[in-house]
Amino acid sequence: MKTSQNLIDRRRAVVARGVGQFAGDMTAVSANGARIVDADGREWIDFAGGIGVMNVGHCDPTVVAAIREQAGKLLHSSIHVATYEPYVELCEKLVELLPHGGPTKAMLVNSGAEAVENAVKIARQATGRSAILCYSEAFHGRTLLGMSLTSKTTYKIGCGPFAPEVYRLPFPDRFHRGVGLDEAAFVKRELERVESAFTNHVPAEHLAAVIIEPVLGEGGSIPVPFGYLRGLREICDKRGILLIIDEVQTGFARTGKWAAYEHAGVIPDISTWAKSMGGGMPISAVIGKAKIIDAALPGTVGGTYGGNPVACAAALATIKVMREQRFNERATIVGKTIRERFDRLKQKSEWVGDVRGLGAMVGLELCHDRDPARPAKEQLESVLAACRERGVLVIPASRLGNVLRVLCPLVITDGDLNKALTVIEESVLSLPQKANA
Ligand SMILES: Cc1ncc(COP(=O)(O)O)c(C=O)c1O
Repeated sequence: MKTSQNLIDRRRAVVARGVGQFAGDMTAVSANGARIVDADGREWIDFAGGIGVMNVGHCDPTVVAAIREQAGKLLHSSIHVATYEPYVELCEKLVELLPHGGPTKAMLVNSGAEAVENAVKIARQATGRSAILCYSEAFHGRTLLGMSLTSKTTYKIGCGPFAPEVYRLPFPDRFHRGVGLDEAAFVKRELERVESAFTNHVPAEHLAAVIIEPVLGEGGSIPVPFGYLRGLREICDKRGILLIIDEVQTGFARTGKWAAYEHAGVIPDISTWAKSMGGGMPISAVIGKAKIIDAALPGTVGGTYGGNPVACAAALATIKVMREQRFNERATIVGKTIRERFDRLKQKSEWVGDVRGLGAMVGLELCHDRDPARPAKEQLESVLAACRERGVLVIPASRLGNVLRVLCPLVITDGDLNKALTVIEESVLSLPQKANA
């Protein structure tokens, strides 16, 4: 029996079924750059990046060296017990890289969901209000509050009751919700929807915060129109509502900037970070205006492991590598290559309904007759399976499971990038073209 199959059988015997798996029975033994080796010794081109975690590349040597060095010095002490330099240094670096419009502070935890939880607790303490406004198609994690803010029901079945005081608006998704409208008209209508929520769903003066992803990740690589984000900022300012931008998937060079909100020229009150910040180690951050962050009383945020020294060392090394090797520029180039190839594919295949994204965060949506209302989930599944057959690991996204999303490590070579794109292209083109007839 193949080693991969054996490992998968062992997983099935003892690992909880609820820990889902995105795409087939993939295994992993080692990885380097944008390549993964599975338990059978087969090499794959990685277009998933461990769900957007590996922007810096698998086992980057500077990151690995920093982990090794820190592991020999201090593995853990808990920031709640003793102050250690890697935690402080990482916060210094984060507030320097991502100032929130004046004095800025940060705190560290372990996962994206925890960052979101803590951001909400801080917003509630800072405003004295409890309600949170979020969006359809949003994904903010699998803790109870994270799930309450998350939209897709298949992530939530049987897990309720969910946290109260969570209100939801349709995500400003022009492909699905703006048919026939130009961007300005669409943004205007969607911002009016926010205002009308204050009389329909929740009074503005009850809202602590609005939380939004600048580009939907799990929701299908859908960017928020920049005008909408700017308008939302204005509404929040006018109404005393805090703006939380969730950069867990978009942050750290994915979109060609440290923060995707920079593209829109908007500064949030609070932001959340994880995934590619740690270069593969579990670490996350909440960053915000110092006055807001410090509204949280001592003891109300954090956790035993938050900002573990080894994870901090990995994050510091990741930032160093990204800065020195100009990762934001690289993401822009990688994204442009992907967009150009997908745009050409759209000309050739009637299954491609939409190509979209920001920087190197790109989605390809398959629909019957390119109709946003007729998702082609089965066809996407067969494309992903065909890619896997040919050694390209790529995962789906979107509420309806019909979007192929690219989250490849940004260190991917041009050769591997083009090879994987050719495999995707050929897999889409091999779908029956007259199937929609
Ligand atoms: C935007 C966003 N927020 C939060 C999370 C949750 O992060 P984690 O899985 O690390 O808890 C994710 C995970 O995909 C995400 O994409």
